[in-house]
Amino acid sequence: ETVVTVGPAVLGFTAIPKNQLDVVTVPTGYTVTVLYRLGDPLTATTPVYANNGTDTNFANRVGDHHDGMSYFGLSATANTRDDSNSTRGLLVMNHENITETYLHVNGQTPGANRVEGEALKEIECHGVSVVEVLRGTNGWNYVQNSTFNRRITPNTPIDISGPARGAPLLRTVYSPTGVAARGTINNCANGYAPWGSYLTCEENWAGYFRRPTSDNVNRPAKEAAALARYGVTSTTGAYSWSSVIPTTPGDFRFAKWNATAVAGQPADGTGDYRHEANQYGWVVEIDPFNPASTPRKRTALGRMGHEGAWPSNFVAGQPPVFYMGDDSRNEYFYKFVSATAWNPADAQATDRLAIGDKYLDNGTLYVARFDANGTGAWLPLVFGQGPLTAANVAYPFTSQAEVLINTRGAADAVGATRMDRPEWAAVNPVNGEVYLTLTNTAAAQRPLSATDAANPRHYNDPRTNGTAQRGNPNGHIIRLRETGNRADATTFVWDNYVFGSDSTLDATNINLSGLDASNDFSSPDGLWFGRASNATGLVNPLLWIQTDDGSFTDVTNNQMLAAMPGVVGDGAVKTITNTDATGATRTQATPVGRAPGMQLRRFLVGPNGCEITGVDTTPDGRTMFVNIQHPGENVGATIPATFQSNWPASQTGPAPTSRPRSATIVITKNDGGVIGL
Ligand code: FEO
Ligand code: CA
Ligand code: CA
Ligand code: CA
Repeated sequence: ETVVTVGPAVLGFTAIPKNQLDVVTVPTGYTVTVLYRLGDPLTATTPVYANNGTDTNFANRVGDHHDGMSYFGLSATANTRDDSNSTRGLLVMNHENITETYLHVNGQTPGANRVEGEALKEIECHGVSVVEVLRGTNGWNYVQNSTFNRRITPNTPIDISGPARGAPLLRTVYSPTGVAARGTINNCANGYAPWGSYLTCEENWAGYFRRPTSDNVNRPAKEAAALARYGVTSTTGAYSWSSVIPTTPGDFRFAKWNATAVAGQPADGTGDYRHEANQYGWVVEIDPFNPASTPRKRTALGRMGHEGAWPSNFVAGQPPVFYMGDDSRNEYFYKFVSATAWNPADAQATDRLAIGDKYLDNGTLYVARFDANGTGAWLPLVFGQGPLTAANVAYPFTSQAEVLINTRGAADAVGATRMDRPEWAAVNPVNGEVYLTLTNTAAAQRPLSATDAANPRHYNDPRTNGTAQRGNPNGHIIRLRETGNRADATTFVWDNYVFGSDSTLDATNINLSGLDASNDFSSPDGLWFGRASNATGLVNPLLWIQTDDGSFTDVTNNQMLAAMPGVVGDGAVKTITNTDATGATRTQATPVGRAPGMQLRRFLVGPNGCEITGVDTTPDGRTMFVNIQHPGENVGATIPATFQSNWPASQTGPAPTSRPRSATIVITKNDGGVIGL
């Protein structure tokens, strides 16, 4: 393939230093305000958040752990969609998880059975929120009484759509015919569709379920194997919600977290809870403009620890494509290619979920194999093809529904490449190249003997902070260009765009991208190309990188950087020497991208204990929304005397008694310009 040179443009800000301040820091010339915090009321009658553990009714409040997020424009004069409006819109965002201690007066009440009200509060803090935001004379505010405001929680009814709808493995107490799921959980990153839908992605759902190993005797062996493959192995379940003794006997909201079989029950899952976990692990489509609509789980996109679903190839007459990471160590990178060619007239349809049915319910799911020579292949996960038959020993597949429900097992069978935790993907709007963050991994999952060209590093990071110091603790970003620049191609070329590293580490074998004090980072996670307007007049759109770091927080709080991407193949193959704990060495060749001059600069540093995740702008690129997730997350079971963070109260001054809250911030440039330029 010919490499097309995309010349460097210029970033319009000065990099900020690493820091450990309990505020959000941005470059000179920019302003940060706090927009939308955990607990803020979403109806006119919901009380102001007291933030002392006494608050209730999170089904009408902002959830916790803000994560992936998209802005959808609303008309300035009517309650209708207007993709071009940069002063009024809907922010749709994920609430991935909780910092449970701060939700209660003095932490969780101990005991063998969780207190019902505490469990309900924790459950309702998960999910998704839709909120109207408005730019007025005093800047941006959310609209507390907007009729668009909505919470979708682990208790919200959701339809199951696509090839696995009605499958025997989806039959539950809640839906004996396997056509509905109750709720969505651990919504991590996101995606959107050009017809105005939001896509929320279910990531670490497996841990919420209680399933003792004794349960296996009451299951078919392949079901037990699949549950183990997905990590549904906890003997308590996260937060022990299944232990609640509800006021209303048989309250399904709590019992469903008990994913166990019962001896003597029929094996179809309709009389017990053995299939509950199969309701989760999907991409869920939400119509944010219709608060009464029932979201749909799009099973054709597979079931995994979905990080996000990033759209590409909305070209008339070609099939839309969505790229998807499965975020666990040694999991895979996927794409879904729709069976239906794109019709641009569908972008403005008003029955958005029906358009979703058209493009998202039929197609081919592929998983990536990265080869050592810099090429790669997309391997189809289609029942009856290759090893995906009843003859497969690890999991005998009997239908496409089983391939989709056990996507990881199918990907194992076809020989995909195990990656260093695939998080967000992003598609360069100029040339269609696809970037994927590989956040980090540890020595146990990437031993010296298992390094490969795409996951090339195994080293020791000498800092003492964190737990994953050996392996690839700082992560990297890989990227690919599809053959013929067609997102529906089945082959590609790839390189490694940038490697995370402390700038002081070994430049020959660890700091392979030559990072310096202005841009060193660890554990890339969020990844986003600026909206097309950001690219106006540029040949090189801005790439934003957000970190979720387990090993650099002794040096700096988590951060966001802006980058000029360049193109696949603009670097060179390097040969590095990896060293393991025994002193054994192994050389590994790997393509390292980023030509000289491709700028990368630190734009934002967050408050103490937070992750930076979730970003969008208004269509004009002049207002940026960023999520600050779990400030002050390092807290024990009870409320401490001093907090790791008091953010967001601390953004404007000392606030030592204020409990930390996840929140959305607004960033504007003081001269009204496009963010980053
Ligand atoms: Fe929820 Fe993969 O980060
Ligand atoms: Ca993430
Ligand atoms: Ca992460
Ligand atoms: Ca997090």
